[in-house]
Amino acid sequence: MSDAEFTVHTDATIGRIDPETHGHFSEHLGRCIYEGIWEADEADGEGVREDVKELLADLEIPVLRWPGGCFADDYHWEDGVGPKDERPRRRNLFWAQGPEELPEESNAFGTDEFLQFCEDVGTEPYLAANVGSGDPQEAANWVEYCNYDGDTELADRRRENGHDDPYEVKYWGLGNENWGCGGRMSPEQYAREYRRFATYVGTQSGLMLDHDLELIACGFEDHEWNRRFLEEVSKSAWGADFPLDHLTFHHYYGRTMSVAEADEDDFDSFLAGALEMDDHITRIAGAINAVATTRDIGVIIDEWGAWHTEAVSENGLEQPGTALDALSAAVVLDVFNDHSDVVTMTNIAQTINVLQCLVETDAEEAWARPTYHVFDAYAPHKGNEGVRTTVDTPSRELEDDEELPLVGGSASTGDDGTFVTLTNRDCREDHTVTVSLEGTDPEAVEGQLLFGDQDPKAEVSKDNAAEFEPADLDADLDGGTVTVELPAASVATLSLS
Ligand code: AHR
Repeated sequence: MSDAEFTVHTDATIGRIDPETHGHFSEHLGRCIYEGIWEADEADGEGVREDVKELLADLEIPVLRWPGGCFADDYHWEDGVGPKDERPRRRNLFWAQGPEELPEESNAFGTDEFLQFCEDVGTEPYLAANVGSGDPQEAANWVEYCNYDGDTELADRRRENGHDDPYEVKYWGLGNENWGCGGRMSPEQYAREYRRFATYVGTQSGLMLDHDLELIACGFEDHEWNRRFLEEVSKSAWGADFPLDHLTFHHYYGRTMSVAEADEDDFDSFLAGALEMDDHITRIAGAINAVATTRDIGVIIDEWGAWHTEAVSENGLEQPGTALDALSAAVVLDVFNDHSDVVTMTNIAQTINVLQCLVETDAEEAWARPTYHVFDAYAPHKGNEGVRTTVDTPSRELEDDEELPLVGGSASTGDDGTFVTLTNRDCREDHTVTVSLEGTDPEAVEGQLLFGDQDPKAEVSKDNAAEFEPADLDADLDGGTVTVELPAASVATLSLS
């Protein structure tokens, strides 16, 4: 007997699911860049890791944010370009990294290495400029170095450094967490700084460049802060009322949960924490709609994911890669689909070795974590039209009047038909789910199941990585309805055509 009913309203479209919704984030932190993307911390390091590059290229990641994070607001891009032996070694104010685990930055990996890596992987770069300790001139120069095709010293410098053609970097973030590590600013203070930076960075979109830049402002999980920022940023006597294309916030969850010590109640609270993403998106979109009435501003969540007590600065924010964390990523990707009318990009933290990374490495090998398989399985949503779904599901009462709906999912339509993703967030019990499609009559179904055989706490290692790959899901169509058995703590996909 079915105990959850999931209905897809294929005619009730929400908005296109921007492929950038499946974006990623990389920072000069721990083993993300050095030992992750780049072979070594040394100036004469051998270069990009081919194994990592291949895994990311296979996943067709749409966008990669860099260089931070908190690191971005103490980073001076000119330190990281030009001959390697002339690049200065600097502090890394926030994070230890590299083989020596020192709060230092060799600058072996800089702008040209990052942008070349993006070209090789086939992904759009998203650069975060230094607002906290930098100035608008430095940010504007960075845009010119990367993107200008004319006859200036900076454009020539890029050519001398090996890249003749402009990189055409489209996404420019102005600062990172400027309410926190990016300068501890009030919303009004950041709004004034932001406006100055946006003037010198954004103006290049005009005469100098033949492509548009998309400017990204930092918001907060405190939505009153966002409202105050938006009100202040528009107080200019001249120019665009709202000189931003996207407003961001970050959402990490599981911060008080130790993977090793967690029990089933902790799993519930953790997944409820992931679901809070829904409310945050609604609230930030509400602030934008209420204040920025003259502009269409997208919502970006440019850092998100599980962050457990195991991940501390001293270990480069490394934590085990579990089936549970991967399930939470599926839950969150479904939430993003439900908000495809406002979400323009998201970036899970952080691509390699750090926090809820997709890829883990040691000196010899790179392997996919369970979260990698969720992104891969959810890929057919990219570029599709998000559509409304309703779910009749059992739920569990948690502490603090919270409730965890035990079954959820999302759906989208495109050239290949309807694509449905489902999660069983119940880590104790299996659930039988009936999926019905309104507005279309599919003739065929194919399904995949992830983590059906795994304990939620199952940890990936290079020896067992293949065990987290998806399996075929038993799914039969009967009169336009599909019934599937979802094991506890599992993820499923259905392609209906
Ligand atoms: O991803 C780790 C850190 O979390 C980032 O540097 C910062 O932006 C956030 O607080």
